Amino acid sequence: MIPPMATNPIPPFPAGFLWGVSTSAHQIEGAADERLPSVWDTFTAEPGRVKDGSTAAVACDHYHRYPEDVALLSGLGVDAYRFSVSWPRTRFDEGRGLDFYDRLVDELCAAGVRPVPTLFHWDLPDGLDWLERDTAHRFAEYVSVVAERLGDRVKKWITINEPAEHTLLGHALGTHAPGRQLLFDALPAAHHQLLAHGLAVRALRAAGATDIGVANSHGPTWPASEEPADVEAAAFYDLLLNRLFADPLLLGAYPEGLGELMPGDVRSDLKVIAEPIDFYGVNYYAPTRVGAPQGTEIDFGGVRMPAELPFSVREIEGVPVTDFGWPVVPEALTELLTTLKSRYADRLPPVVITENGCSYPGVDDQDRIAYLDGHIRALHRAVEAGVDVRGYFVWSLLDNFEWAEGYERRFGLVHVDFETLERTPKASYTWLRDVLKAQR
Ligand code: BGC
Repeated sequence: MIPPMATNPIPPFPAGFLWGVSTSAHQIEGAADERLPSVWDTFTAEPGRVKDGSTAAVACDHYHRYPEDVALLSGLGVDAYRFSVSWPRTRFDEGRGLDFYDRLVDELCAAGVRPVPTLFHWDLPDGLDWLERDTAHRFAEYVSVVAERLGDRVKKWITINEPAEHTLLGHALGTHAPGRQLLFDALPAAHHQLLAHGLAVRALRAAGATDIGVANSHGPTWPASEEPADVEAAAFYDLLLNRLFADPLLLGAYPEGLGELMPGDVRSDLKVIAEPIDFYGVNYYAPTRVGAPQGTEIDFGGVRMPAELPFSVREIEGVPVTDFGWPVVPEALTELLTTLKSRYADRLPPVVITENGCSYPGVDDQDRIAYLDGHIRALHRAVEAGVDVRGYFVWSLLDNFEWAEGYERRFGLVHVDFETLERTPKASYTWLRDVLKAQR
């Protein structure tokens, strides 16, 4: 249980601050018969990949129920809705799958909610592969098609979501699709996603877009002790999580020798990767405590971390955890943002928190309220400390298909009964609605 909440109201954020919620296509849409398969469809079909054996074939059936979900957004009073476009759906029926996003964007605009699409949130069309450089070029072509179709109504774009997790879990450890266990041989997948991002920025600019960002995952990394071996291991983990995907984007360079491990003409690729962006999206959930390798395999929040890794993830003692076992440390969000600002200085564009949230069961979700309250206050302290933060998106609107965890983990402000697909706003929905009202 999270400690009692502060009783004073959440202080006001700067005028024009963007409040929103996030989702992703594969996790909520369903209607698998109206999209081409993605690597996630193939992966979930393999026995043992998803804990409860479920698939995202129906998920929240958002594809058919989007008017109800847009009404929920409008009732919540958010300014913006971050969703993702399913690349394999846009290829369905000779491209007619894209019609769905036309309808969704129209519905959002009619409700006064700004659409903020993410162009890649892990559901790569089956048959494509991030280990192949060509996938970055295919991505840019797809982005041009989407921008052409939606650009008259969409003003804010996100290229890719969390390439760090997609590389680590999908290509290095194999707990996510496409299920590869390449450890450090997964690095080309990182480079090609970064290249895809840069090419997408160019494609979006060519289509007239003026507000483009990325959604990178970040979290403070704390050494398990002051012992040099722990400090070194934590610094390496920090490099993988906090710098491998941020340095090339913001500084046009890979950190410490990693560039030599990347394929292709890295120097000229970095020019593409570092195309200027208009905002920097940060997905934040929790800090990580890291120490020297312990020579054994570790199960970390359901992720199998092999013994050969040059670090080991340790428990953060004395803090509450979510039902996913993730530590709840709101002040780490302030630390993260002030660190990003001191690390990148004027190279850091205005920041938007593109995801923040937690998994807890139940509809009377007081723990989620406490989590969000603590993190929104921590965000405010970062603003007071001079970090230019322009928006905050809660993960997530709906309980959904939580990847390899299936439907057991519930991140939604709205409960979904996966038998009947009935939506029930939780206590946190009402709480957030009131916070947003007070902010106005
Ligand atoms: C991802 C979401 C996911 C959430 C909670 C983020 O890493 O972008 O798709 O559901 O975390 O695990």
